[in-house]
This record gives sequence, structure tokens and C-alpha cells, in this order.
Amino acid sequence: MAEVFLFEFLVIQTFIWPCTGGDPKVTCVYSQSCILPCNVHTSSDSVILWNHITSEDSVVHSYYNGQDQLGHQNQQFKGRTSLFKDLISRGNASLKLTGVKVQDEGRYRCYSSTVKGFQKSFIELRVEAPVKEVDIKQVENRIICSSEGIYPKPQLTWSINPRSKIEIHTPTTVQQTQEQLYSISSSLLDSDSPDDLIYSCTVSSGRNSKRATFYRSYLHDSTTKQGKLEPLLSVCLYDA
Ligand SMILES: *[C@@H]1O[C@H](CO)[C@@H](O)[C@H](O)[C@H]1NC(C)=O
Repeated sequence: MAEVFLFEFLVIQTFIWPCTGGDPKVTCVYSQSCILPCNVHTSSDSVILWNHITSEDSVVHSYYNGQDQLGHQNQQFKGRTSLFKDLISRGNASLKLTGVKVQDEGRYRCYSSTVKGFQKSFIELRVEAPVKEVDIKQVENRIICSSEGIYPKPQLTWSINPRSKIEIHTPTTVQQTQEQLYSISSSLLDSDSPDDLIYSCTVSSGRNSKRATFYRSYLHDSTTKQGKLEPLLSVCLYDA
């Protein structure tokens, strides 16, 4: 019975999900500028009000009497918003947001009022800070992989070639800065194996991922037999 119920639940979910697509989404790149689209009636006398619903419906930008009215603007958006003034009368009330922050994520409402009536539309803003570079290095007997300045929350995976018995489920540390960007790092105990090894580390976030590769090769030499093996060659390569 429970299984039938679960099955029906999944079927209903599957069919309903695509129909409730939600608000249009805009993905903005961290620290860059971004346009939130909004169409309004063409009019020479518009009132335009942009609010960030996610942060307590705070005022992002307002415009009336033919000019910006920023007296009640939330501090978070200060100096970062503008409208395309020459396009408002032609029905374009899109908002330009500069220096995008993670805090800007969420739902926005564009409200307009003209002699032709009221209009309201919603838009969902998502922020991405893509993985820029992955750093891989050897520190004593560990291989350390790290990357920073990422959003949304990244994942890190190791691979070793040829496959070995090394424990790959090594702990990964994720930290978030005040700007809500993520740093990720993981360290792996280098194998005792004197064979050449290739360590690869992939950091991914959202649609985006980067890999760094570390080649480790030991000197097969009687002079190093007693002591610790020293890597003869360690090269890092980065994939785009
Ligand atoms: C409004 O104008 C801006 C700037 O030219 C443009 O990028 C945007 O696509 C326009 N939006 C709409 C809804 O037409």
C-alpha cells in the first residue's frame, strides 16, 4: 500500500513539476553586472518599483515623476541599480544591477503603474561564482587540493591513476567567507608506492567544473632507498 502511494506520489510529482516552472530565472555572475528584465505598458508617465521579496520586500529601485526616487532604497543596493531611462516610455523597465553579490539572490518583483493600469512580474535571480582555478600541491607526504571564491557550494573529487588502494574518501573542508563565497580543500596521503602516480582533483559548482592534475614520480635510486623517497617529477596541469 505504501509502495503504491509512493509510486503515485512520484508520478504526480513528475507530471506536475514541469508545469509549475515558477518565475523566470536570471543567472548573474558574482561581482559583474546583470539585467533583470521587465516589460511594462508604454507610457510617458510611469511609476516603476523594484523590490527584493527575499530580503523582506526591501526597495531595490523606484522611479516616478520622470526620475529615480531612491530615498527608501535598501542599503544593500545603494549605488548599484539603474533603469534604462530612455527605454521606459517604450515599455522597458528592466533593472541593471552592478557588482552582483550572493546576497542579491532570490525573488524580485517589478511593479508598474501607468495610465493604462497596474502590472506586476516576478523574477528569480541566481548567483554564480564559477571555479576559477584549482590548486594542487605536495606538502610533505600529502597531496593538497584547494580552490576558493566559489558559489554555489562546490564539490571536490579525487582520482588516482593507476587506481590504487589509497583511501579516496578523505575529508574535505568547506568554508564560507563573509561574502558567502566558498573555499574548498582536501588532502590525500601520498601512496608509499614507488610507481608513478597521477593525482587528479576536480572541483565543481553548478554547471561548472575545473580539474588540476599532479604527476608524481620517484627516483629509483639506491641512494634514496633508506630515507624518504623524494619526488623526482611533480607537474601540475590545469584543465579549462
Ligand atoms: C531592455 O533594454 C535593455 C538594455 O538595452 C536590454 O538589455 C533588455 O533586453 C531590454 N528588455 C526588454 C524586456 O526588452
